[in-house]
Amino acid sequence: MTTITGISGSLRAGSYNAALLRAAARLMPAESRLDIASIKGIPLYDGDIEATEGIPAPVAALKERVVAGDGLLLVTPEYNHSIPGVFKNAIDWLSRPSSDIPRVFNGRPVAIIGASPGGFGTILSQNAWLPVIRTLGMRPWYGARLLVSHAAGVFNETGDMIDDKMREQLRKFMQEFVTFVRS
Ligand SMILES: Cc1cc2nc3c(=O)[nH]c(=O)nc-3n(C[C@H](O)[C@H](O)[C@H](O)COP(=O)(O)O)c2cc1C
Repeated sequence: MTTITGISGSLRAGSYNAALLRAAARLMPAESRLDIASIKGIPLYDGDIEATEGIPAPVAALKERVVAGDGLLLVTPEYNHSIPGVFKNAIDWLSRPSSDIPRVFNGRPVAIIGASPGGFGTILSQNAWLPVIRTLGMRPWYGARLLVSHAAGVFNETGDMIDDKMREQLRKFMQEFVTFVRS
């Protein structure tokens, strides 16, 4: 069984990116699963808290979810043409202490997807992640792009994916990413 840990970078209950992550979980190939993790409860990074209290429990728990997986799927919104602060903050916490970076990130296969109500489908945010995943020594999969634009027409009010073409694209994306993770 191949396990991908998926994290959505939005805290909204009605998040398109969380809906995209749930859709991906339903489309995983045979002998694989998507473990849906969350950034909910991750505090703002504060070096004083790290120095005096250590790694907060929600951060430690998310770290272990990442470590337990064979690969990582970042499902990113786009804010002001870049990475939303809450998502970057969560990954920054996961990179602490830096002595843990090899265990948590080095060589870990990673793919990025995202959804936006606008017309560009998070392309700039996805690109903005690249220096971060490079710095953390991850193994990015560049085999395909998955840009969900005009998300209001792709998901219904309950967050189900209603666009058949996008569903097929997502199924193929996850299949090919899982193949990469296994290689
Ligand atoms: C501060 C802020 C900045 C945003 N900037 C962009 C942007 O640069 N590009 C874009 O496509 N959408 C932008 N949006 C709209 C988001 O794509 C939209 O709120 C989206 O629903 C967020 O993802 P979510 O549905 O998963 O929460 C922005 C939203 C906020 C709150």
